[in-house]
Amino acid sequence: MKELILQSLRQERQISGEELGRKLNISRTAVWKHINELRSQGYQINSSPRVGYSLVKSTELLLPEEIQLDLNTQIMGKQVEHYNEVSSTQDIAAEMARSGTAEGTIIIAEMQKTGRGRRGRRWVSPPGGGIYFSLILRPNLKPFQAMQIPLIAGVAVTKAIKATVPLQPEIKWPNDIIICHKKVGGILTEMSSEIDVINHIVLGIGLNVNIPGSLLAEQTAGIATSLIHEYGEKVSRVKLIQCFLYEFESIYRKYLASGFKAIREEWMANSHTMGARVRVNDRGREFEGKAFDLDNDGFLWVRRDSGDVSRIVSGDVSFCN
Ligand code: BTN
Repeated sequence: MKELILQSLRQERQISGEELGRKLNISRTAVWKHINELRSQGYQINSSPRVGYSLVKSTELLLPEEIQLDLNTQIMGKQVEHYNEVSSTQDIAAEMARSGTAEGTIIIAEMQKTGRGRRGRRWVSPPGGGIYFSLILRPNLKPFQAMQIPLIAGVAVTKAIKATVPLQPEIKWPNDIIICHKKVGGILTEMSSEIDVINHIVLGIGLNVNIPGSLLAEQTAGIATSLIHEYGEKVSRVKLIQCFLYEFESIYRKYLASGFKAIREEWMANSHTMGARVRVNDRGREFEGKAFDLDNDGFLWVRRDSGDVSRIVSGDVSFCN
């Protein structure tokens, strides 16, 4: 009902409680209750005795009503669960996936107490300026192919950022999102599988959007950045999520139909890694070389100074100066 009230408030400049009630077939008291609930969620709604209600400002929260407004997707984001505070959206999504929640459902939080990153790292998730969400996927793939999902998600994230703000994000293999050599976002993929079949994947995305530089500098000593810090203006978190869902749905379909080779070119075009001199840390093994290819499985190829080539299956890549 709240969505319908919002819809009416968006259509009309001003509408009386009586008219709203008639339109939605509810009492004026019910209208008033819903209006107050919307106000408590951060919507600024004016009311005047003669003319009725008018929507002055939408909420800053990443509510389903906002994400789903004009969302141009068929599966991704068709169900949105919003929380003010969670331990990690990954845990909630995994639990929901285990109990059968549909593919494309996203779990969004305004802040996370124990947000996590790859390799057991923390993902600092303060309220107000970040995007923290997990997306449930149920692809018909073999478990070994799951490592390609964060690669295609990386392409969708860079495209979504470019569609929202005039910045040039790039992907660092496997899936860090970089702007001006600093990390602005990360992707975490967790999976439940049998030996030969994937039950579900939880794709977690964290993006520093409107987090001020001062806060970032304290936490990550100059290695992280945020969109507001790079662009200088506040960025719409809702638009960014909508663009991501749209881009991801389209690339995911293409990938499921034609495999990673169909995405490889796009990944390369959006990547920061190809041709760069890199330091690789692959399960404790460290070496330097030049990244020269990404194969059709999504693995990175690095030519060491000795001339030997290595196929990097997992690990961390950093850039050498
Ligand atoms: C990384 O770069 O190491 C990946 C970071 C992934 C962070 C996101 S935020 C939403 C989701 N919930 C988590 O606890 N982690 C992921």
